[in-house]
Amino acid sequence: MNDVPGLRRRGRALLGIGWRDESLTAEGEPLIANRGDGAWVEDLGGQRFVDWNMGFGALALGYRHPEVDAAVSAGLAEGTIFSFPHRLEIEVAELLCSMIPCAEKVAFGKNGSDVCTAAVRIARAVTGREGVLQCGYHGFHDWTIAANRAAEGVPAVLRGLVHPLVYGDLEGVRGIFAEHAGQIAAVILEPMRETLPPPGWLEGLRALTQAHGALLVFDEMVTGFRVARGGAQALFGVTPDLACFGKALANGLPLSALVGRADLIDVLPRVAYGMTMRGETLALAAARATLRVHAREDVAGKLHDIGMHLRDRLTKAFGGCPEEVRLGGHPAMQTLIAAPELRRRLLALARSAGVFSFGHFLPCVAHGEQEIELSAAAFAAASRA
Ligand SMILES: Cc1ncc(COP(=O)(O)O)c(C=O)c1O
Repeated sequence: MNDVPGLRRRGRALLGIGWRDESLTAEGEPLIANRGDGAWVEDLGGQRFVDWNMGFGALALGYRHPEVDAAVSAGLAEGTIFSFPHRLEIEVAELLCSMIPCAEKVAFGKNGSDVCTAAVRIARAVTGREGVLQCGYHGFHDWTIAANRAAEGVPAVLRGLVHPLVYGDLEGVRGIFAEHAGQIAAVILEPMRETLPPPGWLEGLRALTQAHGALLVFDEMVTGFRVARGGAQALFGVTPDLACFGKALANGLPLSALVGRADLIDVLPRVAYGMTMRGETLALAAARATLRVHAREDVAGKLHDIGMHLRDRLTKAFGGCPEEVRLGGHPAMQTLIAAPELRRRLLALARSAGVFSFGHFLPCVAHGEQEIELSAAAFAAASRA
């Protein structure tokens, strides 16, 4: 038997990053994950939850997808890390180039932070400029966290180099380019966040970056393999110079990829990009299996339909709530929109009823009728309460 109270105590004492409010039970006890299956996660206490966070969006095919699991098991027999590229690197790179519009060449990393940093460093190297415009979250590295004044430990000297832009505000971006003429190396953004891109927004950024000699980088960490096989760039028909993928790329194993123009990816050796585990093969085996599923099936189409169905059912469920509550964003990456305290209460009540979300709803292909009905019932009861 697991000593759950003991583990909770040890976890609280030992883990540098532990639990958020949303990962506590109604009694304020930390949830400890035991196993996942499809769209479900089970905690050590034996409670099962319909999971809408799905490994922060990494598990678009669901927990323990049989083809991904089989690929990882088979990979164990061949060795996990080598001193020169393994054939899997080449095969996954080929699959990425066949799916993603901007991808001519590929470099692997482990985290989204790795490849976003690499993209910005390439942009600074090729333009000889240091300024960066950013929108969204691009990882925890200094260059981007410098825009977040609340974070400590980041050299103040970096703060002036990164300029936050407001999603959808093309005039604002034009203004920053004018104010910092000749200083901007790149615009990096999540091509879609909590709303669909306004008409002309992505196209406008493409034109502005070209006009000012800056690179356009799409951070497709969340959109990649979720809104379309080739990411938001395929969905909206705007091709960036570089793009960053991760999360759903290997369906829950640690892998990220910087893809883009060959002449830019070729700059990587000049910018000291590298890491020991870059070519680790179990994640690459998982990615190859994952991408083969995407090549064969319209995963993004399924996620869209599941998300639409969920939105439809939850919209009805929220009807019992006296204040405005809704799901916003693309169906495959939705956000619960409500006043903060109401949102917190709704999520806590739903959690007690076996539905887990941090406020984002990131469907996987294993979310079916049963999971959606259970979620709708939980949020209907929460809304009435
Ligand atoms: C859009 C986006 N970019 C970059 C990152 C950073 O990725 P990682 O946490 O793998 O470093 C995240 C992580 O949530 C993300 O959502």
